[in-house]
Amino acid sequence: MDATQLPVALASAPPLIAVHDLTKRYEMGSATQRAAGQGQNVHALRGVSLQIARGDFVAVMGASGSGKSTFMNVLGCLDRPSSGTYQLEGQAVEHLNSDALAALRNRRIGFVFQQFNLLPRASALENVELPLLYAGVKPAQRRERALAALQRVGLGERTGHRPTELSGGQQQRVAIARALVNAPELVLADEPTGALDSQTSAEIMQLLSSLNAEGVTIVLVTHEPDVAAWARRRLMFKDGLVVQDEGNGVRFQLKPTDEVTPKNWNLTPINEKGAP
Ligand SMILES: Nc1ncnc2c1ncn2[C@@H]1O[C@H](COP(=O)(O)OP(=O)(O)O)[C@@H](O)[C@H]1O
Ligand SMILES: [Mg+2]
Repeated sequence: MDATQLPVALASAPPLIAVHDLTKRYEMGSATQRAAGQGQNVHALRGVSLQIARGDFVAVMGASGSGKSTFMNVLGCLDRPSSGTYQLEGQAVEHLNSDALAALRNRRIGFVFQQFNLLPRASALENVELPLLYAGVKPAQRRERALAALQRVGLGERTGHRPTELSGGQQQRVAIARALVNAPELVLADEPTGALDSQTSAEIMQLLSSLNAEGVTIVLVTHEPDVAAWARRRLMFKDGLVVQDEGNGVRFQLKPTDEVTPKNWNLTPINEKGAP
């Protein structure tokens, strides 16, 4: 390719994530109530539209119940939106069946959770090998790749330990190694430091930050401004909508008096330099 064409090619590459007018409704109440149309709807997402570039590092913030985990579950193909579109690398995923979604998850996305979600009776090595087992990788290669992932997170000496024999920070490192072992382009972390003290949190953020520097796109949910400060871009959720998007070249911010509706949040882009 001619070097002068490069910026155009880059500009036309699809973002890693593109969601448009995403909504998620949960219907509550008994089956009978729902059948009679008397169930209560919870609108967990009310129209989220945004893009996330490959290689970005995004913090998702907002009060409890604002839709952060629902958003992450949709991004992670763990759950389907009620309406709206979701393209992962330009591929529409909202209509894929469960098998296709599972395959996509396994190949492209790593997950990290607040409570680590490790198998208690399995060693660190076995926990990290698990996604490779699902992917049908042969034992010798599973072991080699899991060992490399554990070394990457600084746990090369602890591969035979079970979760109960490891500190919280070490358990989260095992979980990060498990998320990395399939070499995903996207890591989704839902409050990864929520169960850790501040020193250990900083160490985990240092690790995620160095993975991001190596090109892994990271989206993480956090309540803590200290943790969000590690990210390049910060999204603020409120009542199922993004009400602030900071660090993305353009910022969106609603005035405190504005009613939050799906229509008004994205109509007021503010240039970083303050130009209208
Ligand atoms: N499986 C579910 N069934 C019913 N309601 C749910 C479910 N998951 C989440 N909700 C509701 O959706 C809203 C958003 O939840 P969630 O995405 O977990 O928020 P956050 O992660 O920001 O705390 C909340 O009102 C919550 O009670
Ligand atoms: Mg949550």
